[in-house]
Amino acid sequence: MPQLNDRVETHSRVPDTANAETTDTVVIKTPEKVCGMGHRMKRKEDPRFIQGKGRFVDDIKLPGMLYMSIVRSPYAHAKILSIDTKAALAMPGVVAVITGQDLKAAGNLHYMPTLMSDTQPVLPIDKVLYYAQEVCAVIATERYIAADARELVVVDYEPLQAVVDPHQALKDEIIVRDDKEKKTNHVWHWSAGDKAATDAVFARAAHVVKEKIYLPRIHVCSIETCGMVANYDKVREHMQIYMTSQAPHAHRTVFALVSGIPEHKIQIISPDIGGGFGGKVPVYPGYVVCAVASLVTGKPVKWIEDRSENLQADSFARDYHITAELAADANGKLTGLRVKTISDCGVADAAANPSKFPAGLYSIATGSYPLEAADIVVDGVYTNKPPGGVAYRCSFRVTEAVHMIERMVDIMAHDLGRDPAEFRLANFIKADQFPYKSCTGWVYDSGNYEAALLKAMAMIDYAGLRKEQLEKRARGVLMGIGISSFTEVVGAGPAADFDILGIKMFDSAEIRIHPTGKAIARLGTKSQGQGHETTYAQIIAEELGLPAADIQVEEGDTDTAPYGLGTYASRSTPTSGAAAAMAARKIRAKAKKIAAYLLEVGEDDLEWNVDRFQVKGSPDQKKTIQEIAFAAYTNHPPDIQAGLEATDYYNPPNLTFPFGSYICVVDLDTGTGQIKVRRFVAVDDCGHIINPMIVEGQIEGGLTMGLAPALFEEIVYDENGQNLTGTMADYLVPTAVESPKWELGKTITPSPHHPFGAKGVGESPTVGAPPAIANAIVDAMWHLGVRHLDIPITPQKVWKALREHGVGN
Ligand code: CDP
Repeated sequence: MPQLNDRVETHSRVPDTANAETTDTVVIKTPEKVCGMGHRMKRKEDPRFIQGKGRFVDDIKLPGMLYMSIVRSPYAHAKILSIDTKAALAMPGVVAVITGQDLKAAGNLHYMPTLMSDTQPVLPIDKVLYYAQEVCAVIATERYIAADARELVVVDYEPLQAVVDPHQALKDEIIVRDDKEKKTNHVWHWSAGDKAATDAVFARAAHVVKEKIYLPRIHVCSIETCGMVANYDKVREHMQIYMTSQAPHAHRTVFALVSGIPEHKIQIISPDIGGGFGGKVPVYPGYVVCAVASLVTGKPVKWIEDRSENLQADSFARDYHITAELAADANGKLTGLRVKTISDCGVADAAANPSKFPAGLYSIATGSYPLEAADIVVDGVYTNKPPGGVAYRCSFRVTEAVHMIERMVDIMAHDLGRDPAEFRLANFIKADQFPYKSCTGWVYDSGNYEAALLKAMAMIDYAGLRKEQLEKRARGVLMGIGISSFTEVVGAGPAADFDILGIKMFDSAEIRIHPTGKAIARLGTKSQGQGHETTYAQIIAEELGLPAADIQVEEGDTDTAPYGLGTYASRSTPTSGAAAAMAARKIRAKAKKIAAYLLEVGEDDLEWNVDRFQVKGSPDQKKTIQEIAFAAYTNHPPDIQAGLEATDYYNPPNLTFPFGSYICVVDLDTGTGQIKVRRFVAVDDCGHIINPMIVEGQIEGGLTMGLAPALFEEIVYDENGQNLTGTMADYLVPTAVESPKWELGKTITPSPHHPFGAKGVGESPTVGAPPAIANAIVDAMWHLGVRHLDIPITPQKVWKALREHGVGN
């Protein structure tokens, strides 16, 4: 497998395209009964969810099913002296206890490869490496018996000193992975941009600002934890797996490679998923042990994490320690960016990035600004923490990049005494510069940053707020206004650059039209709540004129869906969404031949009109898509085959670059440090919109997920590697009570290369919101001398900063 040490990022050439016009009106071309793109169609999946009739992994009950419970380490770093399983095995109902030794004996399954070509312990033999690490697993006839027996397993540990700070880890005094040949905690070094050019830009810069920014480890905290039901049939030599998987096909391939079970003998079914947000992309040890448990016992085995296990052992994101410098010329034009970053990987580089991008798409860090040069460096480091690197509702490290650049631009604006909005407007990449090639190699497909920010400013009355701020400041009342004008990069991805373990990151759709004009569509992605059953049906309805209500959409079963790389990083619309349109267009091409045959005209005499082919100039001579579908099975032209179906594997020519401008207004209580987000305006641009209601839902949810790390969420470890935030009483997830009323606006700048001009949207708000909130809080205190606060910005941090700067002493 490829090694990721010392990589320099490169990008393939992408085709030239012209920038698109910006509007703010959603295009609707089909009538209500067809419900194609642009309609606010109610979600087809919701009737089953609101009636409690969803089918999640934990709803699966198979005859004779056993239950698995995992014994976890109380230490972050310790030798395992012995594991005594006798008492547990003696408990009535216990069927087996699986240890690392058992996995080793079963064919070296005690280690597994990660998606980043690193290795990760499944169950340890000699040493535990992180708090809550899986140590062994108890299999029993009842879930509660398995949990009780877990308490009877006696593990004798010899505690070792842990290293939890990656800067300390880089000294290599404690080696986290002494199973590796190289005795170092330094995992990889990656760079993008041009160091020499950046040094030259900084040498001639009139202004430079520098800041250390930490984006702490956070957790995706989806409502449903991770789980699996593994069902190995010894007679058929067949493994059926129900799994909380955002990428079932990729997981099937990984399982086949690791276990040696032939891939056609593995079926992975991802049923309904209660939120993924990137946390259900990696393969966690529990999945592997559960599958082995079924192999060993010959029975179906269920494993469902409880809330604490989920919060302590997996689904961790961020943990980036950033030092950034931003340069500007004498006129305040931004010119250069220098970024050094330490990525805390935990005990393994198990991030779910595309293989060639160990730091994900972090090199989008130049953001919405036409910099002359950038030098971006990241070093991956092992520490005694669970593996991190989950792309939590973000396209592989874009959240980190956007937070950094939007904080730095604000600091520069304030340092230069410029208004942050006016400063951004002066510095943006201009609409006529698209397609725009950034100095780190990305080709932004389309954009109009000025339009989005001006709209947000108008919606919130920016000028009025600045007046109010001045007037209040004179009275010692603190309010702040924060802006974030972010550029996203989603839709991984073009096969030339994007793969996971060598599998190219295309995605797929297969559509079959039945004789009565109803249809089934299967796709390689997997919804976790995004509403794919509705929006894919709307895309096909738009292309074929079949009512969206007549199109059944299925994802997540590897035996039926075409191969795909799954849903994360807002890639579904740019990839499978495009494949759905392309497959539908193939069907329309065949439908045209059938219509020409039925109407006894040439194909050139026909034109498409919403749901029918009609003779040009004679619209009464027509065949509807339903009539054509029937003919495809009953009366098709003799020289073409029966049936009406098509498959498309779509390799996008480029990524899509959604963007937006967010403005946040906060009020600070100088007595308590309390932060009130008084207003938050979000103007998003995701190109053409399939379903405005779903897009608004994605944005509102995503904004709350952006509020979370900005003000509340952080996974904290003590110096021994103990997780101090391992319960929901310590890890503060915002609810509706903490969320402000989100005020949404939009601009529409289509993607010029996407088949219907759409860009992804799911993660834009999670990426864009934190810097807007942080910028607002610092803006409220800048005049006191506060330059930066790391997120989460808690009332304690504000209170302390105010006291340190002379307020309230
Ligand atoms: O990959 P994921 O589904 O998480 O992200 P996405 O492609 O951004 O789509 C999220 C949801 O928003 C899906 O239901 C999309 O069909 C919908 N969407 C839309 O209606 N219009 C867009 N331009 C983009 C997404």
